Amino acid sequence: MPVKPILRMGNPKLLQVAEPVSEFNTKFLRNLILDMKDTMDAALGAGIAAPQIDVPYRVVIFGGKKSLRYPDADVVPYTELVNPTIEVIDASLAFGIEGCLSVPGLRGRVGRPRKIRYRGMDPTGASIDRVVEGFHARVVQHECDHLDGILFPFRLQDLRELGFEREICEFLPPDED
Ligand code: NI
Repeated sequence: MPVKPILRMGNPKLLQVAEPVSEFNTKFLRNLILDMKDTMDAALGAGIAAPQIDVPYRVVIFGGKKSLRYPDADVVPYTELVNPTIEVIDASLAFGIEGCLSVPGLRGRVGRPRKIRYRGMDPTGASIDRVVEGFHARVVQHECDHLDGILFPFRLQDLRELGFEREICEFLPPDED
């Protein structure tokens, strides 16, 4: 499956609410996920959501290897997640530096609920149900935000904590999650 172009911030398609998937175990879903995986891997992403490659369905993938973009983070298991929902377990905010394949070159410090339970299906329709915290919780929340048209800069509490990758890494050390 080919690597797809990634839509970038400013494209109104990234602001749309994506549609739920109604059929599982389909060629469409398998091909979509292959495209997402190839595109994420080529861009060295920690995750990607279907709307980022211009497919408006509620599908995200993430994890699988130590992220080159987030070398200090724990390894998150590779996950293909369809129609996800998130329930906040601990609403106290954890702050961390985020980037996004749709916002290339920029990073920002985002506060997100520390501990969540997420549920959804894998592409065969089998259920996924996990309670997570740390980087895993951050990645899931970031990717699921894409399904509701939300990009990480919209979550910044202080726009002064948005900047170019090199400067942010140099001048704004990440918080402990
Ligand atoms: Ni993103």
